[in-house]
Amino acid sequence: MKKFYLLALLCITLVACSDNYPKVESSMPYKVVNGTIVLEEPARQPGQESMLNYACEPMQTVRVGLIGAGGRGRGNMGVLMQIEGVEITAVCDLYQDHVDKAQKQIKDAGRPAAREYVGAEAYKQLCEADDIDLVYICTGWQMHAPIAVYALDHGKHAAIEVPAATSIKECWELVDASERNRRHCMILENCCYDKFELLALNMKQKGLLGEVFHGEGAYIHNLDPFWAGYTDSWRLDFNVKHSGDNYPTHGLGPVCQSMDINRGDKMTKLVAMSTKAMNSAEVAMRYNNNKEIAEGDQVVTLISTENGHEILIQHNVYGARPYNRLFMIAGTKGMANKYPFEWFAVDSKQAPGVAELEKYNPEMLISGMSESSIEAFNYLKQTYEHPVWTEHEQRALEVGGHGGMDYILNSRMIYCLRNGLPLDINVYDAAQWSCPVELSALSINTGFMPVQVPDFTRSDWNKTQGITFAHK
Ligand SMILES: NC(=O)c1ccc[n+]([C@@H]2O[C@H](COP(=O)([O-])OP(=O)(O)OC[C@H]3O[C@@H](n4cnc5c(N)ncnc54)[C@H](O)[C@@H]3O)[C@@H](O)[C@H]2O)c1
Repeated sequence: MKKFYLLALLCITLVACSDNYPKVESSMPYKVVNGTIVLEEPARQPGQESMLNYACEPMQTVRVGLIGAGGRGRGNMGVLMQIEGVEITAVCDLYQDHVDKAQKQIKDAGRPAAREYVGAEAYKQLCEADDIDLVYICTGWQMHAPIAVYALDHGKHAAIEVPAATSIKECWELVDASERNRRHCMILENCCYDKFELLALNMKQKGLLGEVFHGEGAYIHNLDPFWAGYTDSWRLDFNVKHSGDNYPTHGLGPVCQSMDINRGDKMTKLVAMSTKAMNSAEVAMRYNNNKEIAEGDQVVTLISTENGHEILIQHNVYGARPYNRLFMIAGTKGMANKYPFEWFAVDSKQAPGVAELEKYNPEMLISGMSESSIEAFNYLKQTYEHPVWTEHEQRALEVGGHGGMDYILNSRMIYCLRNGLPLDINVYDAAQWSCPVELSALSINTGFMPVQVPDFTRSDWNKTQGITFAHK
């Protein structure tokens, strides 16, 4: 009987891992188990420790080394210079004229010149310097993880533009380097600090939406005016070779926060589909003279979660669709929706005092949809404004940066570093929100097979419940 059982088990394993499935390139070895692609998940190495709730020693001044002084790097630097306790110690770029522009900006702000590093490998010297606390990475995607790992291995905290990594291997490298060195590794996901996304998060956390079971996010943005501006065409070069959702985090980050991903829930499987290349092919030809492009016009990705919820994200940077991050969360008691215009639906019983504001449907308060419901909409916006937004609004609107969210993102990070508090966004979020870049491509390239989503927390996803914003 035992022999028969073992034989049956062997047959099942062989079938599960059989060669009938298409083989595709991946950054980590994988097996196909019951029709699902399962990537190898490396074990935590001796000497590494979870970074959950990690806080470093407080620092009075945060000495920043900026790597990548292009459009976004100089934009972020301008915001950082408006925040108390920040020093721009060094600037690094491939090109001297990009560094010169950053230096002019620093001079115009009345600050002392930064030390300069120029060249493809010059970032290493910056990371090795002993007068820098935070390496702030704004290069093209291809260099995010290699630079961050080098910075972490040289004792620096790392802040990385989006997405933090381009492959699952890089996601694990970030997690391991952060754990190994006990240094923060934060993804600079500014959309998590948008007024509406924070408001929806607050409504969810106050119980107004019930159990949030469905979230949608996207990056739909026609980049036609921008393609020519990316240095050495790094963005199109990447998209030409990669068929997945190459820019998932603006949509995914805020949805994950509202759905407690890594803080009470975790992603389990992902399936992605892509249209063929239409406008993307035309863009690749026009700007790069590439006859072929791997990325189709539109990629749609569906993700399931351990608690039985679902997330949908979209990516389209080629089409005629107007800018849209979707941002919709739906729960058992209500929902919040950001695009194309902001509205909520909530069970009136969940929002005491608002039923009378809904003139047509007192059971369900649908706000923001029509003239008659604007009053109710404004009531909800005022009543449930997120305290982080309330605290920073005035300065955020003065300083700006994507409507103020860049200012709040950077202010919160600097505040937590200066006060020795855990950051709002940790290395596990950086890895989780970036991982669809490769996973969606794996699914698309195998004819839409499901892919198991790695648990970068290594089983700690249920140790905290919901995001908190640390304060002294
Ligand atoms: N969060 C947001 O809202 C937002 C908005 C725009 C861009 N971004 C992100 O910011 C990053 C940069 O985008 P961008 O629009 O500024 O591109 P960009 O081409 O204007 O700037 C990239 C810069 O990095 C430099 N660089 C490249 N390799 C380098 C290296 N090895 N060492 C030093 N410098 C190097 C380039 O010379 C260039 O100056 C990207 O990751 C992008 O996704 C985020």
